[in-house]
Parts: sequence; structure tokens; C-alpha cells
Amino acid sequence: MRKHIVAGNWKMNNDLAMTESLITELKKQAQTSNAEVMIAPTFTNLWHAFEALRNSKIEVVAQNMHFAESGAYTGEVSADMLKSVGVQTVILGHSERRAYFNETDDMLAKKVDAALNNKIRVIFCFGEELADRKAGNHEAIVESQIKNGLFHLKANAFERIVLAYEPVWAIGTGETASPEQAQEMHAFIRKTLTNKYGKEVADSVSILYGGSVKPNNAKEIFSKPDVDGGLIGGAALKAEDFYAIVNAF
Ligand code: PGA
Repeated sequence: MRKHIVAGNWKMNNDLAMTESLITELKKQAQTSNAEVMIAPTFTNLWHAFEALRNSKIEVVAQNMHFAESGAYTGEVSADMLKSVGVQTVILGHSERRAYFNETDDMLAKKVDAALNNKIRVIFCFGEELADRKAGNHEAIVESQIKNGLFHLKANAFERIVLAYEPVWAIGTGETASPEQAQEMHAFIRKTLTNKYGKEVADSVSILYGGSVKPNNAKEIFSKPDVDGGLIGGAALKAEDFYAIVNAF
């Protein structure tokens, strides 16, 4: 059975004190679903979060990573550095990284390799913009993002890959893909994986949906057969909202 995963992407929110207090709140929440729960604080708070959550079921993950092992890359963070503070999973290719920091498919393929070479699990994000959807190109765009970022990998690499479909027009806008739109795209993504790697691999990969998932729409979105979880932005910043989503499974 594929894993259910709910990951909170905190983005550039929460300083150290706010991280401490949100984690305290998160630890008070009761989990009634079987989903794997992750939070992704900023780099500066990863170690604190890891320490504070050592004996909990919440995994601390990173929002980004550089592809080089080390060296003259001012401002960047390597796989080794992430591992040294307990991080075992990294989000790569978020649409904000692609749009504001010019992350290309080629760069992302290198980041994926660097993560996997370091035995770090990858949550690989992709999704179309509104213009693509209006033009009916959304499937072609998503297919090319997946192919360019991941299809150089061997099938067994997918044991450490989670996919996150995040239509850009739904991120932080309050506008969600309808559960039907999400299901349609997730089924297309699984078909794309099946064509390349076969059904067994495709059926084993968790595909998360992201984009304005809230407590009031999570249940319906997660009820779709190819939606295996969520990547949550805004609603991950409040412990009760986040756990309402975690428990929507
Ligand atoms: P949102 O963000 O839930 O605030 O739309 C989702 C994301 O960017 O991962």
C-alpha cells in the first residue's frame, strides 16, 4: 500500500521563537489517521525542530538543497549539511523555487541525484501555470517536468521519491483544484510513470496534491484514489488546521 503523507511547507515563515511555539502546539495535537506527518521549517530552524521532535512521529524535512557536495556556493546548503542535522527528506522543485530562483529542470535533475546519492528522500514538486491550463497544455507541461527531472533515474530510485503535484494557480491563492481535477492529473501522472517504469513502480509512488488545501476541503481531495496526501502551505502554520488536514484521511 502506498503511504499517505501530509507535509507542512512552512516556506519563509517562523523565526526560532515561532518555530518553538508552533512545534509545542503540534505536539499537543492528536493524530487519528495513519498518514506520515512532516514539517519543513527554514534552514536556520531545522536543528532545533529535529531536537524538539526527536521522540515524536513528526519528521523534519528541508525545503531545498544544493546539488554540489560543498564548495564556493555562497548561501547554499548541501545534502551532507542536511543529514548532519537529522534531515532525511528534502522538498525539491517547488514552484516558488522554479519561478523566483530560476530553478530549471536540469538543475533539479542534479539536485535529485545529489539527494539520492546521499540517501535523502525527495519530495519532487511540479505543476502547471494558469495559462497552461487555460490553453489545455497542463498535462504536457507536467509530463515534461517529470520526464526532465526524474526519468534519468533507475526504477529502484523511486523507493525514495514522492511526487507533489501543485498547480501554480492554486498555491496560496485560496483557489484549489477541484477533487476531480486533482484526481484526473494524478491518474495522468501515474500513467506517465507506468509507461516508463511499469505498473508496480507507478503504484508504489505516493503522489501528493498541493495548493490551498484547507481543513474544509482536505477530506474530499484525499478521498480520490490517486491522491496519496498533501503538501500544505498556509494551513500548516496553525497546528489545529494542520492536524485537521492530517486527520482527514
Ligand atoms: P498553500 O501552499 O497551501 O499555501 O497553497 C502549498 C505549497 O506551496 O506547497
